Amino acid sequence: MRNVNQSNITEAVLERLSSTPNPRLKQIMTSLVQHLHAFARDAHLTEDEWMSGIEFLTRVGHITDDKRQEFILLSDVLGLSMLTVVMNNDKPAGCTEATVFGPFYVEESPQFENGDDVGNGAAGKPCNVTGSIRGLDGKAIVGATIEVWQSDSEGYYDVQMPELEGAQGRGTLFSGPGGKFEFRSVLAEAYPIPHDGPVGDLLKATAMHPWRPAHLHFRIQAEGYETLVTHIFRLGDKWLDSDAVFAVRETLIVPWVQTASGDYAVNYDFVLNPANSK
Ligand code: BEZ
Ligand code: FE
Repeated sequence: MRNVNQSNITEAVLERLSSTPNPRLKQIMTSLVQHLHAFARDAHLTEDEWMSGIEFLTRVGHITDDKRQEFILLSDVLGLSMLTVVMNNDKPAGCTEATVFGPFYVEESPQFENGDDVGNGAAGKPCNVTGSIRGLDGKAIVGATIEVWQSDSEGYYDVQMPELEGAQGRGTLFSGPGGKFEFRSVLAEAYPIPHDGPVGDLLKATAMHPWRPAHLHFRIQAEGYETLVTHIFRLGDKWLDSDAVFAVRETLIVPWVQTASGDYAVNYDFVLNPANSK
């Protein structure tokens, strides 16, 4: 097609996409082009503004490596990560709700026994974490794989500290008899998401803050059940209603209590959805 104009360019691109062999890719690309064009029209996007957008995305790409995932951060602060989580995790009532993965998960974290210290030297106040893993029918799940990760009291994950050798505040353990698990770590504290890059500049320019309420991440896998990616949030945290990544669910907010020894303790009983329940 020659001489495209404002009114027919969208159709021209969709026509070109029309022979995409993979039907799902065709559907996604068709929708993406329609919405991108609608956005440009709606915002009356100028050429200079679109070039600024491209420069911004270029910076997002340049700062991203295997330790820093600025694209996930961007998706998170725009609410796109949480939108995909809520759209794809509509579980029956009673199941533990999912929330965002975030950029600090690491595959194959060190394995621990129940009762071990997952903190492994992380800065922070001592905290004991207990709980159980059950199915929706109430049955205890023994041998579930429980991956946990959290920041230290300064708000840093181990992967953000290049000088660190080995994991801190991160580990894999397995539920024991009665589906129970227990580990020691440090008290979860609120922290700002990384904001020294282009996503931080965007937050500043839009008067949005980078803070996340204190939380502890879990990924729980068990045969016959849907994998659960979630976190638990600390009751009373001042950022619960304005999480920078929109990830707070009421059912995931729990008290961290101070015990007689001065240490902290938190308990959460997770309920997994049976696989293929939809
Ligand atoms: C996190 O909780 O680890 C996280 C989630 C989204 C963006 C940044 C950090
Ligand atoms: Fe986190």
